[in-house]
Amino acid sequence: MTFNFKNLRPNNNSNSPDQEFAQTVLEGLSKERKILPSWLIFDDRGSEIFQEIVELKNYHPAVCEFEIFHTHKQTFTDIISNETLQIIDLGSGDARKTMVLLEHLMKSNLQVHYIPIDISAGAIKKLVTSLELKFSNTSLTVTGIASEYFQGLEAVSREQFERNFVFFLGSTIGNQDYPAAGKFVRRLWDSLNEGDYVMIGFDLMKNPKLLYSAYNDPEGVFQKFNLHLLDRINQKLGADFVKQNYVQEGHYNERSRAVESHIYSTVDQTVCISALNKEFHFKLWEGMQTEHSYKYTVPEIEALAQNNGFAIVEHLFDSKKFFVDSIWKVKK
Ligand SMILES: C[S@@+](CC[C@H](N)C(=O)[O-])C[C@H]1O[C@@H](n2cnc3c(N)ncnc32)[C@H](O)[C@@H]1O
Repeated sequence: MTFNFKNLRPNNNSNSPDQEFAQTVLEGLSKERKILPSWLIFDDRGSEIFQEIVELKNYHPAVCEFEIFHTHKQTFTDIISNETLQIIDLGSGDARKTMVLLEHLMKSNLQVHYIPIDISAGAIKKLVTSLELKFSNTSLTVTGIASEYFQGLEAVSREQFERNFVFFLGSTIGNQDYPAAGKFVRRLWDSLNEGDYVMIGFDLMKNPKLLYSAYNDPEGVFQKFNLHLLDRINQKLGADFVKQNYVQEGHYNERSRAVESHIYSTVDQTVCISALNKEFHFKLWEGMQTEHSYKYTVPEIEALAQNNGFAIVEHLFDSKKFFVDSIWKVKK
């Protein structure tokens, strides 16, 4: 049992300017209907706020996925039988769901190398420390990697002979639109070997009223998460957004089939972004889309797997069938 941390991020300062971030902000704010993608929200603080979201009682994707991990941990163990496993957890955050399974795998005396990968170095450092506290008397080996998904995955998926099992949990796949999710899954397939597995968490389409209550908590955690984007732009690009001048609201859009979060300007205001040398105007109550969470049906999930070189192994549902962790095997 060893517990290591590797930082593959290009530099360790998350507030330094970076070209892709600046370009994405420029393009998004220049559109007639302003829109910024949710990946911009994630740094150490963004990842921490997401962990608060996971604790919300109405945030059913987390509640249901927890239930799935508790109910189906033996199913998972049966699928891998006695193989020595390398579990690669993409966007692990604090990995509290994965830990339920790791505990079970350790009790079943399986050999596991656990590799959490997250863009937040802070989240990975904390996770490695808590894994060490919890699992130091077991055979678990841990290598935490701070990196972008594929940079980390490609660094580890081919270097060992163990079976790779990639986790992509928390409905994170839903933060990309359907074509981008297809490309992501194809790239996963490219990075893995014949016979490797993936388990992807999908939030299933359900009553839009339930979706509404999941993304509009009375505690205001979703608002804090979305407004963190403004802090990020202030820090990285020298902008002067005033967070108090915006509110957040999320709703299901039947056309895009996603829950879309918007932040609305509560005053008529102009924001200056010094690194872009530009000003952007927000009219009173003008909205800007900041996050989307695409919903799936089971046939869509199956098509996504089969069109990208995977065979379906098993769908693990919660008792209400609100969420599914779908397990696929790489066919080459
Ligand atoms: C929606 S949260 C899911 C966290 C956890 N897997 C769960 O199910 O609760 C997404 C996580 O992915 C990380 N993340 C976001 N974009 C990333 C990227 N491009 N590469 C690596 N990690 C990323 C975030 O820091 C965050 O911890």
